[in-house]
Amino acid sequence: MIYLDNSATTFIKPKEVIKAVNDSLLHYNANPGRSGHKASIASALQIETTRENLSRYFNNGSPNRVIFTHNCTEALNIAILGNVKSQGHIICTENEHNSVLRPLEHLKQSGQITYSIAFQEEKTGITLNDIKKVLQPNTYMIICNHISNVNGAIARIKEIGEFCKKHNIIFVVDGAQSAGHIQIDMKENCIDFLSIAGHKGLYAPLSIGALIMGEKFDPSPILFGGTGTNSIELYQPDIFPEKLESGTISTPLILGLNAGLNFVNQNFDQIKNKIDDLSTYLNFELNKLEVSVYTEPENAYGVVAFNIEDLDSNEVANILNEKYDICVRGGYHCAPIKHKALGTLNQGAVRASISYFNTFTEIQKLIYAVKHIKQNAKRYKL
Ligand code: ALA
Repeated sequence: MIYLDNSATTFIKPKEVIKAVNDSLLHYNANPGRSGHKASIASALQIETTRENLSRYFNNGSPNRVIFTHNCTEALNIAILGNVKSQGHIICTENEHNSVLRPLEHLKQSGQITYSIAFQEEKTGITLNDIKKVLQPNTYMIICNHISNVNGAIARIKEIGEFCKKHNIIFVVDGAQSAGHIQIDMKENCIDFLSIAGHKGLYAPLSIGALIMGEKFDPSPILFGGTGTNSIELYQPDIFPEKLESGTISTPLILGLNAGLNFVNQNFDQIKNKIDDLSTYLNFELNKLEVSVYTEPENAYGVVAFNIEDLDSNEVANILNEKYDICVRGGYHCAPIKHKALGTLNQGAVRASISYFNTFTEIQKLIYAVKHIKQNAKRYKL
């Protein structure tokens, strides 16, 4: 099997991640932060080390403001719903995933906010100029997808972040697709909230994410419950991370994330160069085949979207799966506005997404398969 659906989740995990999860299940099964005995403290220390590593890697200034979540969606929900400003206005971009669009639509439908979508003028991604076009006097938050999960478009987060800082606007960056692929320094880019998915470019297991917060804004919880602290009180503790982390957290997944982060940190250039090379090669060859390619060659972050003539993208994904043993994702990738902007609302798009563990030969096999499907397109249309 050739797995090229790494933007949905990376399939091959580094041996260090597997070992960390395994070690966790052998040695760190006590509930972290819930009891005072040594087994619980040992688990809690491992969790805190992960918080510190994430804090250092993304430079948010405070490990306590690293909040573990089930996924990037939950992290974005905390950032959006936990900072609601009644009758305020939010800007997001055409590259947003439903993890942003649906909470925004919910707030709009319930009469709490209005929001606008910024569309990109430049093919490679969103700029400050695009954002400024939809700015309103009551804009209090800008949410920016960093790298599109549909076609790898990249936002110019530094110029947008500096603008937000100057105007006291909350800057939220969705790093689901960028964390691990490019280095993100929150202070340098003036990011107030960064959401990450552990299981993609950080090679962690599924269902571990984090909201990494700067020091300026204090969101309200969207989930209330046990924190292992102040247990006699009925109100939610006001300090981080407890304020936003109710219920037992998953030590095995968090330690898997820690190992994935270390793996990426130690091999960053090698990972980046390989993904860049494979993406560039795939993009170049697909263009030569004269299929419709929706990824700009310079956006070589491991996401390459294309269509073969007017074949339905899910149909092509099925053919690749069944005839060529290649896993890719067709359809809309939970990003409807992006597909509208690309003009692919009828067809969706076939998305091949690459990880460090893919090989040149695998990409060649995909190119060969696409060439064959194109040659036989008439037959598939019947
Ligand atoms: N958001 C993930 C994707 O792009 C699941 O496939």
